[in-house]
Amino acid sequence: MTVVAIDGPGGSGKSTVARGLARRLGLDWLDTGAMYRAVALAGLRRDVAPDDADRLARIARSMRLEMGHAVLLDGEDVTEAIRLPEVDAVVSVVASHPAVRAELVARQRAWVASRGAAVVEGRDITSVVLPDADLKIYLTADAAERALRRAGQHAHGAPARADVRAASEAIARRDRLDAGRSHSPLVVAEGAIVVDSTGRSADEVVDEIAALL
Ligand code: DC
Repeated sequence: MTVVAIDGPGGSGKSTVARGLARRLGLDWLDTGAMYRAVALAGLRRDVAPDDADRLARIARSMRLEMGHAVLLDGEDVTEAIRLPEVDAVVSVVASHPAVRAELVARQRAWVASRGAAVVEGRDITSVVLPDADLKIYLTADAAERALRRAGQHAHGAPARADVRAASEAIARRDRLDAGRSHSPLVVAEGAIVVDSTGRSADEVVDEIAALL
């Protein structure tokens, strides 16, 4: 029963690497950022302000969320909708509310417990959600490369320079919010191994983590 926990900032390649590692090991994969995104989307659809912690916590507690190859929110496939720029714009604030986090952390632990083995990625997986994971990785990459990757996710072909600049600003703002929040900030957890993906392919990084395991 192997549990691998991976944390890191936006654009570090976490999702790609976690998915690749899960495939390599034959394990399920949980993208916990997608869960915060689902709460943010449900809030937007109900016109709930991103700073309304009480209502967002109520949404988090009452929503039916199925995390698999697709993300199902109350039975609807929201895999693509949770990546919309509107969601990007509010998700850090939504994820800063302790009551929202408490609910999602409980769901994440239950998801892992029901499977016994998995690759789980996010911002507080190594530090808060699964501090006893078999392997804890802090994946990072330099800021310029993270911005390029993020801009590339939304572009067809090479991203325009203005898009890279916008992505770079958005990433810097989200990094500040994710690392500076008082509840479960993004940190390198005790016992976590720092892996730098700058200039490397996802396969190379998966190889390194599989070797560490
Ligand atoms: O990895 P991502 O961009 O999909 O994450 C979306 C947001 O959720 C981001 O602002 C960080 C936050 N998040 C978090 O606070 N804790 C997690 N375990 C995962 C994501």
